[in-house]
Amino acid sequence: MKNIAIEACHISKSFGNIAALDDISFSIQKGDVFGLLGPNGAGKTTAVRLLNGLIKPTEIETISILGLDLQKNIQDIRQRVGVLTDTNLYERLSAIDNLLIFGMLYGLSHKESSQRAEHLLEQFELSDRASSKVETFSKGMKQKLSIARALISDPEIVYLDEPTAGLDPEASHELLQYIIKVSSDSSKTFFITSHRLEEMESICDTVAILDRGRIKAFGSPHDLVNQVFKDHWVTVTLGNGTRLNISLLKLELSFVQDIEQSNNEVKIKVDDRASIPKLIRYLGKLDTDIYSIAEDVPNLQDAYLAIVKEK
Ligand SMILES: Nc1ncnc2c1ncn2[C@@H]1O[C@H](COP(=O)(O)OP(=O)(O)O)[C@@H](O)[C@H]1O
Ligand SMILES: [Mg+2]
Repeated sequence: MKNIAIEACHISKSFGNIAALDDISFSIQKGDVFGLLGPNGAGKTTAVRLLNGLIKPTEIETISILGLDLQKNIQDIRQRVGVLTDTNLYERLSAIDNLLIFGMLYGLSHKESSQRAEHLLEQFELSDRASSKVETFSKGMKQKLSIARALISDPEIVYLDEPTAGLDPEASHELLQYIIKVSSDSSKTFFITSHRLEEMESICDTVAILDRGRIKAFGSPHDLVNQVFKDHWVTVTLGNGTRLNISLLKLELSFVQDIEQSNNEVKIKVDDRASIPKLIRYLGKLDTDIYSIAEDVPNLQDAYLAIVKEK
């Protein structure tokens, strides 16, 4: 229990007859970067709002944050977490003033707020724009400042709801580098929601796939991929007009379970990953033009699509 940052047991939330969250349970270790992944409308924002006590669950067994019961200790918990939801910065104030006001809301002294604010502006490379009004910032800069704002009180848990939403690929990539930088601080727990799988795979220790209010899979990105994809496939690319003798291959290699041939590509399913070198040795001896042989390595996005598409 001591090492658990967030624990939710049997939480449901309905809006009228829409079940935004349908009996979800999970726990997140302290210091982890957790990714809640799901398509639009899956219930991600609802989960963030619930965990921050901004809305009340329809049904609940427990929500425990940093070992405290959320419903009984909401004020204490708020002091120890930071949240990024939509960018709602004060557009007409400077970057530094936005941070200072927030620091003061958290009860930091002016000195503490200034020190934290300056450090954060530096970390996010916004120091040279500290006195500029936020309305002159690009979307990417605003998003960086919003994350800095969520970090002002040096929180133990940081929630980032779709931090890269609305950013172009370049700004999104840049922002992600800052998130990686701040999340490498292992004393903080990060709870990040996103539907951008490629981004999340590299930064999350644990992910959950949320679909229509239900958690469909939970674990490290690697475990999750292995849960979904148990088969081992190899793709062989042949020269134009070349074919492999499939019947012979099946006859000679007992570990080959399935073969699909199309144009100049052949997909071969083997019984075990350890059979791949044997397959490659066999193919290498054939008198056939082979341009490449590659193991199919599914990623988190493949696993996500397989889970979310499955009805
Ligand atoms: N305040 C609300 N009133 C009514 N329905 C809502 C409200 N907030 C969310 N919903 C519904 O709950 C579902 C989940 O929404 P949301 O948590 O915002 O999803 P996500 O953040 O994953 O896109 C959606 O069907 C959405 O329309
Ligand atoms: Mg949302």
